[in-house]
This record gives sequence, structure tokens and C-alpha cells, in this order.
Amino acid sequence: FGRLCTAGLLSFLLFLNAPIQTFVIPHSHMDVGWVYTIQESMHAYAANVYSSVTEELSKVKERRFIAVEQEFFRLWWDTVASVTQKKQVQQLIKEGRLEFIIGGQVMHDEAVTDLDDDILQMMEGHGFLYETFGVRPQFSWHVDPFGASATTPVLFALAGFNAHLISRIDYDLKDTMQKNKKLQFVWRGSPSLKSQQEIFTHTMDQFSYCTPSYLPFSNRSGFYWNGVALFPDPPKDGIYPNMSLPVTKETVHAYAKTMVENIKQRAAWFRTNHVLWPWGCDKQFYNSSVQFNNMDPLMKYINQNSKEFGVSVQYATLSEYFQAIYQSNLTWEVRGSEDFLPYSTEPYQAWTGFYASRNVLKGVARQASSKLYAAETLFARYRISFPDGPVAKDWALDKLRALRWAVSEVQHHDGITGTESPKVADMYLQHLLQAMMGAEELLAALFLLPHNLESPSTLADVDQALEQHVIIYNPLAWNITTIVNVTVTQPSAAVFDDDGQPVPAQIQGSAHSNATYDLFIVVELGGLQYRKYLIKFSENSKAYEAKAVSFERRSAKDRAKAGRRLLPVLSECYELLFDQDTNLLHSITYLEEKRRVMITQDFWEYDANGDVKAGPISDNYIFSANGSAVRAYKAVEMEMIISGKIVTEIRQYFYREESDKDYAYSITTRVPECFGTKLPCHRLEQTYSLGPLSLNTEVVLRTSTSVKNNRTLYSDDNGYQMMKRTYRKFTNNTLARNYFPMVRTAYIEDDLSRLVLVSDRAHGVSSQTDGQLEVMLHRRLWNNLQWNLGYNLTLNDSSVVRPTLWLMLGSVSATSKLYQREAVQLQHRPVVMPIDQPRKCLPHRGSPLRSVVLPPNLHLLSLSVPGWNYCSNHSVHLNLHSQPDYDRILLRIMHLFEEGEDPELSKPVTINLKEALQGMGEVKGVEERSLTGTWDIASLQRWKWKTRTRDDNFTVTISPKEIRTFFVHFVSRNF
Ligand SMILES: *[C@@H]1O[C@H](CO)[C@@H](O)[C@H](O)[C@H]1NC(C)=O
Ligand SMILES: *[C@@H]1O[C@H](CO)[C@@H](O)[C@H](O)[C@H]1NC(C)=O
Ligand SMILES: *[C@@H]1O[C@H](CO)[C@@H](O)[C@H](O)[C@H]1NC(C)=O
Repeated sequence: FGRLCTAGLLSFLLFLNAPIQTFVIPHSHMDVGWVYTIQESMHAYAANVYSSVTEELSKVKERRFIAVEQEFFRLWWDTVASVTQKKQVQQLIKEGRLEFIIGGQVMHDEAVTDLDDDILQMMEGHGFLYETFGVRPQFSWHVDPFGASATTPVLFALAGFNAHLISRIDYDLKDTMQKNKKLQFVWRGSPSLKSQQEIFTHTMDQFSYCTPSYLPFSNRSGFYWNGVALFPDPPKDGIYPNMSLPVTKETVHAYAKTMVENIKQRAAWFRTNHVLWPWGCDKQFYNSSVQFNNMDPLMKYINQNSKEFGVSVQYATLSEYFQAIYQSNLTWEVRGSEDFLPYSTEPYQAWTGFYASRNVLKGVARQASSKLYAAETLFARYRISFPDGPVAKDWALDKLRALRWAVSEVQHHDGITGTESPKVADMYLQHLLQAMMGAEELLAALFLLPHNLESPSTLADVDQALEQHVIIYNPLAWNITTIVNVTVTQPSAAVFDDDGQPVPAQIQGSAHSNATYDLFIVVELGGLQYRKYLIKFSENSKAYEAKAVSFERRSAKDRAKAGRRLLPVLSECYELLFDQDTNLLHSITYLEEKRRVMITQDFWEYDANGDVKAGPISDNYIFSANGSAVRAYKAVEMEMIISGKIVTEIRQYFYREESDKDYAYSITTRVPECFGTKLPCHRLEQTYSLGPLSLNTEVVLRTSTSVKNNRTLYSDDNGYQMMKRTYRKFTNNTLARNYFPMVRTAYIEDDLSRLVLVSDRAHGVSSQTDGQLEVMLHRRLWNNLQWNLGYNLTLNDSSVVRPTLWLMLGSVSATSKLYQREAVQLQHRPVVMPIDQPRKCLPHRGSPLRSVVLPPNLHLLSLSVPGWNYCSNHSVHLNLHSQPDYDRILLRIMHLFEEGEDPELSKPVTINLKEALQGMGEVKGVEERSLTGTWDIASLQRWKWKTRTRDDNFTVTISPKEIRTFFVHFVSRNF
């Protein structure tokens, strides 16, 4: 328990007699998606929120409002706001009465988002706010995400925030914290960064972000005088459903009494004499004159009788509340790097289903993010090297901005979570796919247009049927050797690099189609480099033609015979054994230590209940298993594409019934076999196919091993840090409450071995039995809960999904060096671009780009041309340049390792940015910035005073888990 310092004690004693100071914070929770599309929401209420709030705040100077989701605000600002309203907004911001909180495009989800995208969506909003108003949000308001990640407070601290606010945490935990006055604490979200990036955190009490709606004297909706938003059109007469009784002479006392009682109830849960009283809820304040015109007299009445009530009330922004807490000078308890995941609201309400809801949307969101990363890095390189090149900069920035916007939007806590209605999921997908096409156009232009106009390449005629060109780009700042697959229509081929040298390749029939072939090419690429490869199709070509061997279908009943006829697949790292009597994986030996681990993988199904009368149901949000999982198949077939050349591919098909013609699930495993090359051999690539599922099933891939993990597993928070997940027994719902989110990585381990999975999208993970790691890959549900039916949130998802996991096995110390980089490499696989018309446009021979390589423990988190028009210097930044700044490059570098994780790789790294970036151009200046770019790091003084030694101009030292952000200026090169 924290001690009170003398000043705190004094003020505490003074507070005993003072009325409770209540901060009434007007807000509207505006989901960027969920049940209604963004356009529908803008039309029905969102635009009216900002129009009417602007008008109402301008009328009375005590009134306040906090604006949270920037996407709606920007749409209003750009497409609705009049010149007068814009002037009023500028004034309100200046007076601190309209305050931007969080400042991101959305209130992002915390469980299934990746830090890349969390940073992006914040930067997108922050850049807009800073260049438009010169303001930098400093407080968060994460009132609705389903559980709280330990990465979020770290990111907010890095962005310069002074306090963080959360709400949805386990109901029993919140209860205890409330009773013990521990809802507020200082959170050290990263075990490596510790106090350096700690942040004060406020947990909302049990009333959360909505005003209590119960009024003893009325059956209406409480303090919501404007009623409930109406879709699709707002009512013509301004009369909304459920508008509460007006505050009048007759009702004011009853209202005041209800409000005061609520305030006093809440005050008892906090250590200071201040109460945060959020006034608002979902879709509120679209008719804010009614809101304020009733609240004004109510508050006046309470204040006139404040002695008697023991309460005073005032309109406030969030910063005014936190200022008061900060000034109380109390000493706070520290919370370490544990998160608040998973999240339950009631005994049978574990919000662990959404970790796996809408696998397709989760996958496309991540693909879009990596496409954006590739396009950003390549465009940044292009701008530095060819400032006058033919790719028009404003056209390019438009393409990038569209994709930044789409990727930001889907991070909403009812977006990538899969907890939205089908039409809203389609909206996100459409925005993402359209913007991805734009980014592909940009990539093609960057690859294909001659870089300067002087040297058009001359090319000999080629016969398109016999040749194909492919450009392969490595978007990471590390040199890589990897296998790339290209789909071709010819059964034999030879591959050459841009020096005309033959490249190792392998060709085989595709698993998905009889008409196409998979061509695997071993590519070696420098950091941020691309190369052109030539594929020649001919009878006597050089690529090794791999042959398929099929194994008889085996019944799951024959498991008893397992272990007698084992088929080995050997690579430089592993010996995998497949069992011919079950067609399942039997074991993997990691050769470095000659240690064998028994491993079987197959699919299991949870049977979900859809009838509310029969018990707890599963839906978009909630996983509520109706008993343990059952084996999802009766027979298995196996096919092996044997090569011994580049990869061996094992395809396993799982049939629901022994005689079924079509399989229900499949696993394709690729084992790299390139002996004696630089190709990493520890990576076993697996792609699965699932669906369409039968109704009310939730399918897991179960990896059962001899690892003695005691049901403990590790899974990541937002791809940033690993969390230890110890199995816990609960009075009820133990199965579902032991599910955890996996964004990039999950592993199980014992003293000797660790089995790691890295993922291309988020899933739910659990270890229900010793040695097991199960990943929930897909769900299809329906239920008859009225609320779910009304909003169309039953998750009847009939899609076929094809997620990818990479699997690694080894000693704890060997895998500790690998998994962070593997997770990044899976996220940022090389970009493969086949060129259809090689004659028309082809880059000149050889890549014009030199490689850019960072040390293995540093990851290039971002390299982009943000295109903001503000000056770096805060005091003059609003002297707007009318043009975006195309020459300011944003660079963000992250140390991938935790302190003590690896003897070498966990060390702080000192690099000279001028040298590290010389492959790109000549650096003339570097400015260190806050995470989202808006603060010069030297002028950033967060509320807790912190120190950091300044580095010289170009040399920086990056410590474990640090993320550092820079503006880099290059010497301009004009050709
Ligand atoms: C807390 O400390 C600050 C600065 O020392 C001081 O201005 C303020 O009055 C103190 N607040 C209380 C409640 O003692
Ligand atoms: C390469 O293989 C992956 C995994 O099977 C697949 O998703 C992808 O579409 C393939 N790429 C090409 C270009 O065929
Ligand atoms: C990366 O590859 C480039 C060639 O593409 C080579 O010049 C450079 O030395 C390599 N760097 C490292 C650190 O391996």
C-alpha cells in the first residue's frame, strides 16, 4: 500500500470537510464501425455531434467536450464544417474547452492489434491534429476495448501522454480494486523500460463510461435528454426516442438527488476527493442543446446546495480531472508489466471468442499493414534517391494515405476484433482491398518506371509465353535468404537473377489447382533491396521437378497402431517423423541437441451452444464452450512432395467422415531442405485450410507434445512483449477463461525445449492439457439472443480461411534468439510482383538500390514520408507550408529483445545513423521525436520527470525494448 507523504496527508485532511469535487466530462462514444457503417453513422448522428457541440460550447463558457475518435472528427472537419464552425473550433481548442483525447483515428483494440498498426493509427490522428490545431493529445480514454494490454501504456508514454485511462477489466478484479481504492496506479508496462516509460493509469469504476441510466422517478433513459440516435435518418422534428424528462422546477431536486448519490457512491472508491463523472455514452450529443440546456440548471442547483449535498460539480475536460489528481501529490502503487487479459464481465461471460472471430478480416488487415510498410519504405527510398523521378509525389502520397487510413480504421475495437455486423466487416474489407490495390499500383510504378529519364532501358524482344519476369522486394532492413513461391502455368522452368546467374528453384503441382504449379525460388536480398528474376519456361529446364507421393487414407480409429511405420523428413535443423498408420506428425528431433520431442497436430472442435435457454452462448465476443473439444475428423490422408532439393511439402487432409469425398481441414507443411546454403532451416512453414464450418463450431489446431509445460504458455501483447499465461482454475468457465490472445507469437516450454508458433494474424491460444498448445483458428456461430439478433452479431461466418503459422522447436536459449525476428519476417515477407508485359517496362539491369542493414536485434519499425506540412519547431509550426513536406523522412527503430533474454542480442546497441543509412543517401540531420512525431524529444517533459542522456548528432544507443523515432533529413540529390 502506498504511503501518504506529508503534503498529501494534509490535503487529505482538508478534503474531509470539503465537498466532493465532481468533474462532469461530456463525451460521445462513437464507434468507427460496429453495427453501422461509417457513412451511416455520419449521417445519423456523428456529424451532428460536432456541429451541435461546437454551437453549444460557443454559447456558454463553462461547457466542455472531449473529442475522441479522430476519424469522425476529420470527416466532419473536411466535409461538413462551415468556415464559422471551423473558427469556433479553433477558439474552443485555444480555451481548452474542446479537448482531443487519445488523438488516434480510432480507439484501438488492445488484444488482437499489432503495435505497428496501433502506432500508425495514432500517428495518423496526431499528425492531423498537430498540423491543423497545433495540439498534442496527452491523455487516453480507452473506455471500451475488451481488456487492457500492457503494451498500450508503453505506447502512450512514448507518445508523450501524462495519464492513461482504462475500463474493461475482469469483473471480480475490478470489484476488489474498487473496494480497496486501487483503481488508480502507476503502470510500468514494459519490464525492460521500467519507470522510464511508466504512466499513471485510472481504471473506471463499475459504472464505466456511461452515465447511470436508472432514474427512480422516471422510466426514461437517465441523464440523456437527447434520447437515442435514430437510424438511418435523424428525425425531422428533432424528437428522438427515449428523451428523458426535462429538468424543471418540479424535477430538479429528484435529478440532483440521484446524481449526488451516484457521485458519493463513486467517491468512496477513490483515494482523492475528486470524482470523474463521464456524462455520455454511445452515440450521444448529436442534439447537444437539449443535453446542455438540462444539465446547466441541474448543475447550478447542486452547486447552490453544495454544502447540504456535500458535492460540487463542474464541467471538465479529462485533462482538468487528471491535473487535479496530479496536484494531490499522493504516492501511488506501481503495477508491473502484467496486462488485463483476458476479460470477463460475468461468471459465464469470458470475452475470449473475439480473439478468433472473423479470421479473414484479421488476415486482410495484417496483409494490408505489411503492404503499407513495403510501399512506405520503398517510396521513402525513392524520394531520397530520385527526388525528380517520374513517380509523382502527390499521387504517391495519396495512395499511401488511403492505405494508412484504411489500416488505421480497422484497428477500431469493433473492427479487427470481428465484433461488428456483417455489413460493417464488408465495409472494412472493401476499404482495405481498394487501398491495397492503390499501394500495388504505387509499388509497380516505383519498380518499373525508369528512375531517371536519361537512361531508358533497351530490351530485346521476348516471347511472353516462354518467359516471365518477377520483381522481389525485401522490405526489411536486414539481409535475408528465403524461399519465395510464385504461381506459374507451366510444369517446368528455370530461374535466373538479374546478373544472369541461375537461381536454385523447384517446381511442383499446386495443392489448390490442377492447372497451376508452385515455383519455389531461393532468393538472397539485401536490406530494403529488390531484384529482378527471370523465369524461363522450357522442357529441359533446371528447376527441380518435385514429385508427389500419396498415402492411403487412414481412419482415426487406427490410432492404436501408431508409432510403427515412421517416415522421416530431414532438414539441416530437424528430423520430422510422420506416422504412416495415422498420417499424422509423430515427433520432431532438433538436431543441434539431438533431442526428440513428441508432436502431433490435428483439428478439434468445440460445440457451441446457440440457445440462450440452454445455457451460456458463444458469439462474436464471447467463447463459452459447451464441454471439451471433440476430434474434428474421422480419417486423414497425406501427400508428400518429395524433393531433397529446396522444400519437402507435406499435405495432410482431414475428413469429417471416413467416406467423405472432400476434406474439411488441411495442413500444408513446408520443410526447407537446402543443405549448405544460407537458408534458415529452423522455420517450418504451415498453412491451414478450414471451412466452411458447420454451424456452431469453433475449431482449434491442437499441437500436442511431450513438453512438460504444466499448462503454462506464453503469448504476446500486440507483438511487442511476451506475457506468461499460467493456467488458472475458476469456480466456473475455467476453459474459456484460460484463453489468451496471440498476435504474433505463442510458445510452450520446459527446462529443455521450447515450441514456438509465430502467426500472420491474431488468434486465441490456450494450453488445456500438459504439453498442449491449441490455437483457435476459426468460428462459425448463431444464437437466439435478442440483442445479438437485433444487431446481427451472431457471427455466421461461412468463409474458408487459410492462416499461416511458422513453427520452431529448439532449446530455450536457441529459440530466444529467433522468435522475435521470425515474427517480424512473417509479417514482412518479400513482396513478389510478377510483371505481365516485360517488353513495355522493365527496370534497367541490376537493382539501383544499395542495401540498408541494421543489427539483428534492431528492427526498422517505420521508414516513411509522412507528408505533414508542419514545421518540426513547435513555436513556428503553424506558419503553414501549403505543401506537404516530402523531404522529411520518419524513421522508427525498435530493439526487439527484452533485458536478459539473450546474452548478446539483449545488449543495448549503439549505431551511427549516418553510417547505417548511407545506403539510402547522405544524412545531413537527425532530430529525435516522440513516438508519433509531434514532440521534439528534448522538449517533451511528461508529468513524471525523467532523465535521459543526450546522444551526439548521429550516434544513438538503443536499449532493450526501446522504440525511438526520428526525423531524418538527407542531402538532396537532384539528377
Ligand atoms: C502539490 O504540490 C504542488 C507543487 O509542489 C503544489 O503546488 C500543490 O499545491 C500541492 N497540492 C496539494 C494538494 O498539496
Ligand atoms: C505462396 O504460398 C502461400 C502459402 O501457401 C500462398 O498464400 C501464396 O498465395 C503463394 N504465393 C504465390 C505468389 O503463389
Ligand atoms: C548485406 O548484403 C549486401 C549485398 O546485398 C552486402 O553488401 C552487405 O555486406 C550485407 N550486409 C550484412 C550485414 O550482411
